[in-house]
This record gives sequence, C-alpha cells and structure tokens, in this order.
Amino acid sequence: MKVLCVLGTRPEAIKIAPVITELKFYKRAGIETVVCATGQHREMLDSVLSLFDIIPDYDLDLMKFNQSLGDLTANLLLNLRPVIQREKPDWILVQGDTTTAMVGALAGFYERVKVGHIEAGLRTGDKAHPFPEEINRKIADHICDLHFAPTEIARNNLLAEGIKKASIYVTGNTVIDALHSMIRQPFQWVDSPLAEILADRRIVLVTAHRRENFGEPLENICLALLELVDRYPDIQVVYPVHLNPNVQKMVTKHLAGKERIFLLDPLDYLPFIQLINRSYLVLTDSGGLQEEVPALGKPVLVMRETTERPEAIEAGTARLVGTNRQNIVREVSRLLDDTLAYQQMAQAKNPFGDGHASELIVKAMLAF
Ligand code: UD1
Ligand code: UDP
Repeated sequence: MKVLCVLGTRPEAIKIAPVITELKFYKRAGIETVVCATGQHREMLDSVLSLFDIIPDYDLDLMKFNQSLGDLTANLLLNLRPVIQREKPDWILVQGDTTTAMVGALAGFYERVKVGHIEAGLRTGDKAHPFPEEINRKIADHICDLHFAPTEIARNNLLAEGIKKASIYVTGNTVIDALHSMIRQPFQWVDSPLAEILADRRIVLVTAHRRENFGEPLENICLALLELVDRYPDIQVVYPVHLNPNVQKMVTKHLAGKERIFLLDPLDYLPFIQLINRSYLVLTDSGGLQEEVPALGKPVLVMRETTERPEAIEAGTARLVGTNRQNIVREVSRLLDDTLAYQQMAQAKNPFGDGHASELIVKAMLAF
C-alpha cells in the first residue's frame, strides 16, 4: 500500500507528523510512505519538518509573499497532479482545513485516488468563520473516502451531512500525539528565544492570525493587550507574531517597543509548547491551540465569534471571548483576578483524545 501524505502549513505538519511516523513504522508490513510538501508556508513549515525528522520526497515550494487564495488554489491543483500521476498512490492523506488540504483532496479525487481526511467533521456552520477554512473542510470531507474524526461531535456533524457511517472513525486529535512526543524532549530555556522573558511575571501568551480578524478585529485585540499590561503590572504579554504580512503590519504598528509586551518571531514547536507550559493563560484565535493548551492544563480564551471545537467550550477548558476590546479585557481580567474561575478552567478535562490517534488512523486504513 502506497500512501501519499500532502502537507503545506505549520499546523498541518505538526498534526500529520505523528501519522507519518506511524506509517513508517509499518514499512516492513508493506506500507510505502511518500511525503509531498506544498510549501504553502515556508519558514513556519520547514522548522516543523526538521523537528519531526521529515524529509519531503517532493517540495512544490508554492509560497509567494501575500499570495491570494485563488492563485494558491490554482497553483496547488496544477502542481499536485504530476506528483500523483508519477507516484500512483493507493491513498492520499490530507489534514485539516487549509487550502493545501482542500486542494490535495480534490487533486486526488480527479486522479481517482482514495483520500483520507485527518481531523474530519469540524464545523461552525458559518461559512465566514473561519474563512475560508469552514468551506475547505466541508469540500475535503465530501471528497474523502475515509474520515478520521477527532471526537463524537465531529462524527455526528459528518453523519448529519449524509456521509456514510462506515467511512468514519473516531480517533482523537493527532495534535495530542505530537504534543506528548515533543513535550518530553530536552529543552534549555536560557538558550532559546524565550531567554529575555521575565521570570517573575505572569505570562499571557497571545497568537492571532485568522483572516476574518484582519483589520479592525486585530486592532481591537492589540488595544486590549495594551490596556491589560497597563492595568496589571505583574503580567507580561508574549506574542509570537505570524508571518502573514497583514498580521505583521498591524501588530508592529500598535505593539512594537511597548513595555512588558514581547513580540517574537514565530517560535519553533518545541519552545512554543514549553512557553504554553510556563504561561498563566493563552489568548488566541488559533484552531490547534484550543486543543493543545487544555492538554497542558492552562485556560484558553478564544478570540473568535464561533468555534469548530465546541468540545473545548463544553468541557470548560476554553471560552469564546470574540474580538471586542472590552470583552477581551474583562475575560482576561476575570482569570487574572479570580483564582477559583482560573482553577475551574485549568483543571477541566481535555476532550481531544489520549495521544493514540495516529495509531488508530493507520489501523483503520489497513482494515479498510
Ligand atoms: C494558513 C491557513 C490557515 C491556517 C494557517 C496556520 C489557508 C487558507 N489558511 O493561513 O487555515 O490556520 O495557515 O498558520 O490555508 N508567510 C511567510 N512565511 C511562512 C508562512 C506564511 O512569509 O512561513 C506569509 C506569506 O507572505 C504568505 C502569507 O504569510 O503569502 C499567508 O500565508 P497563507 O498560507 O496564505 O495563509 P495563512 O494566513 O498563513
Ligand atoms: N505554533 C508554533 N509556534 C508558534 C505558534 C504556534 O509552533 O509560534 C504551533 C502550535 O503549537 C499549534 C500550531 O502551531 O500546534 C497552530 O498553528 P496556527 O495557529 O498557525 O494554525 P491553526 O491551528 O489556527 O490552523
């Protein structure tokens, strides 16, 4: 059985890496694994690939500065076809909701190759949030032959859209597998980009990069952070800034050089998860962080109007705070001031699996 794994962005690489490791484990049992990196991201992808020891067999190197979604989609489709035609895989595996994942599935379908979707079935029900990911994942799910749903809620979303029960496996999320394997790695704080962060202050870790938050919402987020450092002399904001130019420009304009606000380049995965571990709380619009942060026992406040991960809200590990400045300040203040509210969130049980998702995914493919 030959499996072509397609990945392009930082979160896809992190979440598909444990599956690639697992597939390679089955080499002697006859599974051949081929990796195609689309290079939708460049710097942020390469650091993950080297950490997980993945050397792509193909690198399409498609990132262009501030690339439009249309150009990216067209280039992906054109460049994936020859790889699929040459390798003739039995399966293509895609992960998540990026343009790479959606087009990877479509390119496979056009070449009549079976496609498996890791992290299938996530939905907000709102095509503008997250944009364009809600539609990317719907398209991928309706193309795919096997669906690896992280939770029962994701499975039910698929069933409600008419996807066949027999094609769905509930596996947990592979990000927990990645987290478990990497959090054990040796790490020296003093030799890392984190060395300058003050040891005696509570860390509010921030990430934000969603397209629907570009412009005013991201500006509100920046203003809320300024208000928070002003109000709380015992906190510091640590913000590794995504390389998307729309994010860089706004964040630098408002936050560069401000006291107790550390703007960092995107961190490699290892220092980043160590930073989560040392943080007091996390404020983010990221998808993956809603799964990882609770697994490390920290509260996560989600700066979005809606989430495709309602499990985290139901479990009490995450709270939606939107992008209104006052709301963000109020919700962060609540956790900074109220120990009981903090403990309730920090101690809630993470609903995204036990770190064995990759194993279940490969077994399901073998059984299919
Ligand atoms: C993409 C995904 C999003 C995912 C996010 C994770 C789509 C449509 N969006 O969003 O779902 O949550 O990745 O981070 O697939 N850039 C660099 N270096 C990098 C990465 C990005 O310079 O390593 C810059 C480039 O100018 C690039 C721009 O960021 O054109 C935007 O990258 P793109 O992949 O289009 O979108 P993201 O906003 O990163
Ligand atoms: N991450 C990282 N370095 C950073 C910020 C995030 O390694 O500076 C990791 C994080 O641990 C998570 C993933 O990147 O696994 C999330 O990616 P992102 O927020 O870019 O995408 P999303 O999950 O929203 O699709």
